[in-house]
Formats: sequence, C-alpha cells, structure tokens
Amino acid sequence: MPTRPYVIDRMISAKTIAARVEDLAREIQTAFAGTEKLIVVGLLRGSFIFIADLVRELDLPVEVDFLEASSYGDSTESSREVRILKDLRGEIAGRDVLVVEDIVDTGYTLDHVVRLLKTRNPRTLKTIALLDKPSRREIDIRADWIGFEIPDEFVVGYGIDFAQRNRNLPYIGKVRFTD
Ligand code: IMP
Ligand code: MG
Repeated sequence: MPTRPYVIDRMISAKTIAARVEDLAREIQTAFAGTEKLIVVGLLRGSFIFIADLVRELDLPVEVDFLEASSYGDSTESSREVRILKDLRGEIAGRDVLVVEDIVDTGYTLDHVVRLLKTRNPRTLKTIALLDKPSRREIDIRADWIGFEIPDEFVVGYGIDFAQRNRNLPYIGKVRFTD
C-alpha cells in the first residue's frame, strides 16, 4: 500500500499507447519474419498488459514465458540489487528471445536479466521496453525497441504500479504527491 497521498496526472493516453504498440509490433514482425523459434519473455509484473497487446499484433509463431525480477518494493527508488523471484518455465537455448520490459530506469534490471539469459545460449536475444527514462540511467544499456522516452517522473498504469496499485489504469500517468 502506498504510504503517501498522491494524485495521478495523465501523461500518455490509451489511444497513443495502442498506436505505438501497433508500430512496434510491425517492426518486430519484420525483424523476426521467418523465425520459428521466437519466445517472448515478459518481465513480471509490469509488462503484463504490454506483452498481451504486443503479441496479439504479431502474426508469427510465438511462445510466451515470464520471468520475475525483484522490484522497487513499496518505494519509488531502485534497490539496484536484482534477484530472480520467478524463473522461466522453458529452455531458451537455440531460441530467438525477445525480452519485454515495462520501463528501463537505472538499467540494473534489464542488464541483469540480459546477462542471465545470455548464459543460456539463446540463438538471438533482443529487448523491448514500453518506456525509457534515459536521464536516470546508471548502467549503459538500451533496449532494442522503445515505446516512449519519458522524463524523470514516477509513472503508473498500463500494467505499471506504485506499491502494487494503479496497474489497471488504461493510460500512463505520473504520480504527484500531495503531502
Ligand atoms: P531499473 O532496474 O532501475 O531500470 O528499474 C526497472 C524496474 O523498476 C522496472 O521494471 C519497473 O518495474 C520499475 N520502475 C522504474 N521506474 C518506474 C516508475 O516510474 N513507475 C513504476 N515502476 C518503475
Ligand atoms: Mg519491472
């Protein structure tokens, strides 16, 4: 539960997100055309809506798996220590893997996940993030595809939470504390 009172200011509308997801899906469709080994890996829990919308725009044979890395807990600051809370169910050796993340902030999470998955010898490994906060980066990593670059704001909605709340908002908004 959030411990400070806040309101949510609208930032990216559901319509704008849907249009961008369609564009991204077209690019991914082209990049992976012909592959019969695509496995789309969603990072729980923040990517669950993004991955659901994205895979439904793909006309490719696709498998879906999930991995959960430790998150912010109830704070708005990264812990910088990444732990795997739930691993993939399937093998990725020899597969084409697309990792789907909600936000790249400091970069610690995506970097950790990419390094881990590379040790399992996928054929290829690409990454996509709905949101990118480049001004917050502490590790030099960039997703292969990015939905939107955003400023240093704490955002919620479209799967993304603040202390587990607001994932169900259809749009992306920024948290503004009112205390
Ligand atoms: P990083 O390891 O600092 O790059 O953080 C990545 C993770 O932190 C993301 O997968 C999100 O779960 C979480 N995160 C980063 N920024 C925000 C935000 O603005 N709102 C909610 N969660 C965030
Ligand atoms: Mg996350």
